[in-house]
Amino acid sequence: MKKIIVLFSGEGSNLANIIKHIHNQHANIVCTITNNPNAGGISIATNANIPVLICDNTLYANREEYDTVLVQLIQKHSPDLVVLAGFMRILTPIFTNSVRSINLHPSLLPAFKGSKAIERSFQSDETVCGVTVHWVNDELDGGDIILQKSFTKDLNDTLEEFSAKIRQLEYEILPQSIIHLLT
Ligand code: GRF
Repeated sequence: MKKIIVLFSGEGSNLANIIKHIHNQHANIVCTITNNPNAGGISIATNANIPVLICDNTLYANREEYDTVLVQLIQKHSPDLVVLAGFMRILTPIFTNSVRSINLHPSLLPAFKGSKAIERSFQSDETVCGVTVHWVNDELDGGDIILQKSFTKDLNDTLEEFSAKIRQLEYEILPQSIIHLLT
C-alpha cells in the first residue's frame, strides 16, 4: 500500500477526515508530524495508533534549520506523498525542493493566499468562494492547482455558517485529491 505522511498544526479535523477515508484503505499514514506541541490533532493520531512526531519550530533558529530537520524526518519513511492539512508554516526551498507535497487552502486560489483566508473571503465582495488543493512549491499557496470546489456565498450567512461550508468542502476535496494522486 502507498505511504503518506500528514503534517498539521491545529485542531486536526482534516487529519481525522483523512484517517477515516484514506488510512488503511487507499494508503497508510505511516506517521504524522506537527510543529505545535499543543495541537489537538496529536490525540486524534494517537487514538488511531498512528505515530506523531512533534517537531517544535520554536526550538530552531530559523526556517532553514527547521526545514532541514523536517525533511530528514520525512525522508526516513520514504513516503509516496506528504499532505499538509492545516500545517501553518511557510516552507523554504529546503523543503519544497525535496518533498513531494500537497496543501489544503480554504479559498479559491489564487484569491486570498496566506493566513485568514476564510475571514478575508467572507468579508470580500466575491460571490463565489471555495477551497483548493494544490502542489506545494516555494511560492506561498502558489503551486499548481490539483482540485477546487466552489459555492455561491449566501449573504445571510454568519462567519460561522460560511466557515462550516468551507470545512465541508475541505473534507471532500482533500481525500479525493489524495486518492486521485495515488492511484
Ligand atoms: C483548514 O481550514 C485548512 O484549510 C487551513 O487550516 C485549517 C485546518 O483545520 N489551512 P484542521 O486542523 O484540519 O481542523
